[in-house]
Amino acid sequence: MTRAPAFTARAPSKLILLGEHAVVYGHPAVAVPLGEPFAQATARLVGPGGPVGVELQDFGLAWLRGSEPSAEEARPFSRIVEICVASGMAPDNGWTLTVRSAVPIGCGLGSGAAVAAASFKAVYGLFGARRCDRELCSSVYEVEKLLHGTPSGVDNTVIAYGRPVLFRKGEAPTFLSGPGAPLFLAVADTGLRHKTAEVVAEVARLRSQAAALLDEAFRGIGALAREGAAAFEKGDLSALGRLMNEDHRLLRGIGVSAPDLERLVAAARKAGALGAKLCGAGRGGCMAALADSPEASLRLAEALLAAGAKHAFASQVSSPAFQKVRP
Ligand code: PMV
Repeated sequence: MTRAPAFTARAPSKLILLGEHAVVYGHPAVAVPLGEPFAQATARLVGPGGPVGVELQDFGLAWLRGSEPSAEEARPFSRIVEICVASGMAPDNGWTLTVRSAVPIGCGLGSGAAVAAASFKAVYGLFGARRCDRELCSSVYEVEKLLHGTPSGVDNTVIAYGRPVLFRKGEAPTFLSGPGAPLFLAVADTGLRHKTAEVVAEVARLRSQAAALLDEAFRGIGALAREGAAAFEKGDLSALGRLMNEDHRLLRGIGVSAPDLERLVAAARKAGALGAKLCGAGRGGCMAALADSPEASLRLAEALLAAGAKHAFASQVSSPAFQKVRP
């Protein structure tokens, strides 16, 4: 029996090294793709006439085009399918998408953007659609809007291009050429989940009460990101670590840290991290610590587990992070 034509694609997760929250207000941020964990999607022809279907293996969920998504998790996929069909890149029948992701949801690693990017790439591949990374980026942004309301665009940019970036809302991304050698990190998950849109809305509420204070913090965070981009390109890890520490201090000041994040950040610094900070929206989710070697990143991950992290892993900045898995 011959197997139906299929195309599998991957997309990386991401970390914001410097600049979350301030990026929503027009300041720059530095974000990097992570090769692990990643999301993977397979688009498959199932014969003309059949409905378009999506299977989310991690949730045991399936959705057929034309039906109302029965679960929150399936909603972004109905958007993905509609974008593919409406743009004419895929027919409105006869194909399926199967999605798997090891990127934990709601913890600052860009899970939504990663599964969307992997899905679009798989559909492009199956139907031979020629789409550049910029088009992928804007399609993923459409899905991000469904998930997060008014995202800055940093997640879809770093994940769609799969390259370290100095990102500023409304501007073309500046890709970072460094550091020339891998960047080793330990990432730990508090196990607490956040909804990015809610944390962003709380920060906005706080800003409506204390604009001068918040704007000063945002300016400070933006300046750290600009400095960090230069340190990243030079491979100046100790400067980058110091900037991450300072960024964490400013993020704590605007109220987006949490006791569990504070404990893990302190544990990472005690265990020798060059710098450590919360990553993403905060109030839970993940933190990251910078290491000067792969061995050190493993040691940091162990220290973070011992300090109560739900999960911790050593990772490194990947580039290029998109891989065609199978033709
Ligand atoms: O969705 P997260 O947790 O990766 O956070 C994204 C970063 C924010 O700056 C908090 C929001 C945004 O849209 O940039």
